[in-house]
Amino acid sequence: MNLTEKIFPDRFSLENKTAVVTGGAGLIGKKLVLGLAQAGATVIIGEINKKKGMELEKEYVKKGLKVKWMKLDIANINSIKSLINETVKKYNKIDIWINCAYPKTSDFGDRFEDMTSESLNTNVNMHMNGYILCCQQIVEQMKKQKQGSIINFGSTYGVVGPDFSIYEGTNMTNSAAYAAIKGGIINFTRYLASFCGKHGIRVNAICPGGIFDNQLEIFVKNYEKKTVLGRMGQPEDIAGPVIFLASDAASYVTGHIFMVDGGWTAI
Ligand SMILES: NC(=O)c1ccc[n+]([C@@H]2O[C@H](COP(=O)([O-])OP(=O)(O)OC[C@H]3O[C@@H](n4cnc5c(N)ncnc54)[C@H](O)[C@@H]3O)[C@@H](O)[C@H]2O)c1
Repeated sequence: MNLTEKIFPDRFSLENKTAVVTGGAGLIGKKLVLGLAQAGATVIIGEINKKKGMELEKEYVKKGLKVKWMKLDIANINSIKSLINETVKKYNKIDIWINCAYPKTSDFGDRFEDMTSESLNTNVNMHMNGYILCCQQIVEQMKKQKQGSIINFGSTYGVVGPDFSIYEGTNMTNSAAYAAIKGGIINFTRYLASFCGKHGIRVNAICPGGIFDNQLEIFVKNYEKKTVLGRMGQPEDIAGPVIFLASDAASYVTGHIFMVDGGWTAI
């Protein structure tokens, strides 16, 4: 990468880059795929849900974007390896890997008092361990390329504890396993940044605050009061910071935990 030849805003461009977004057909993932592709990248939707993945590929290809769905289960090492092999075979390299999948059991998010050890084990295994396994495998590919950008999805709840008062008047609560998983992913990101620096690979985490998804009005009102910007996030709010971290404009940014939370953690 010869950065001196690149002038702004070219450094923000993702032309000639290949990106993989795990969970790419989800609430946030689909806007990341859109943003990365609009910035010029070829984007692989690494997604376990075939129907959602194929429909999204179709929608974005129709818009003229370079997007392809590939089946991925982040909790299965063979599935991760085969997605990486297939992508490299087709596009020669993977410049950007974004861990944005959200595997969870049907009882995930139950009250802390009701959480079973099986549920805790399964969720930590699929989510936190899945992110770590994806990183382990993509780092081997990026080492060969001597460059790459990895972005792990954390959360405000990996950095601060929840304010349970925002759930009053609803049947919602805040998952204990989620705090452990996201806290783990965030500090693993620092570990990996340190491990990968000498290979030219950057590793950062994005921590969104709550994203609006038609939650109960009372919850939304309570949530909004806790943010500096007075609103919940939109999936589009997350795409810009991700594109920045993925691009050469962030060439000196690694090991960073990037809060994208409307100021929730600022006060
Ligand atoms: N939505 C929020 O308010 C919010 C806030 C902070 C952080 N986050 C984080 O952002 C990321 C994305 O969240 P989201 O709200 O878009 O979730 P989502 O549930 O809308 O989407 C997640 C996607 O991951 C896919 N998936 C599930 N298990 C998988 C697996 N094993 N392998 C591959 N794909 C799998 C799902 O099919 C789905 O399309 C997660 O890491 C989440 O913790 C979300």
